[in-house]
Amino acid sequence: MALMPILTAPDPRLKKKARPVEAVDSKVRRLMDDMLETMYDAPGIGLAAPQVGVLKRVIVVDVAEKEAAPEPLQLANPELVWVSDHDNTHEEGCLSVPEHYADVIRPDEIRLRYLDRDNRIGTLEANGILATCIQHEIDHLNGILFIDHISALKRNMILRKLLKEKKLAQKEAATA
Ligand code: NI
Repeated sequence: MALMPILTAPDPRLKKKARPVEAVDSKVRRLMDDMLETMYDAPGIGLAAPQVGVLKRVIVVDVAEKEAAPEPLQLANPELVWVSDHDNTHEEGCLSVPEHYADVIRPDEIRLRYLDRDNRIGTLEANGILATCIQHEIDHLNGILFIDHISALKRNMILRKLLKEKKLAQKEAATA
């Protein structure tokens, strides 16, 4: 397994739509494992393949409490087949939007179809933080970040700050 560098906004690669995998083969399984390791290391509760520069429809999620046993999910081609009418508001963050958080409204309950690590079709029902996290990761597969759900004013403020930090880091790297 290996850690993968995580892209941060603004980056055009985070705005692209990812392609479905044909099958979960050993290559996709390795990607899933590297993504999970990268997510735990960050640390985060979800990661989508485009965030590590791979335009495939693969996500990993683990919303278990810190002290609890891990509950990793490694999903390919995740697809929402149903969402509830009632919504929920959660404060979201993202490894690709470091140090910024905002309330996002999403359906509270979802039903999902996907391919698992063994290339079998699975279904999953989720609510609460797990439903929020899965929807956030599926958004990544469609080039959507959580800041695309908030006001343009707040989004542009965050993107400007991130860009400034990026330029500063580049400058420091160049003079180091
Ligand atoms: Ni994210």
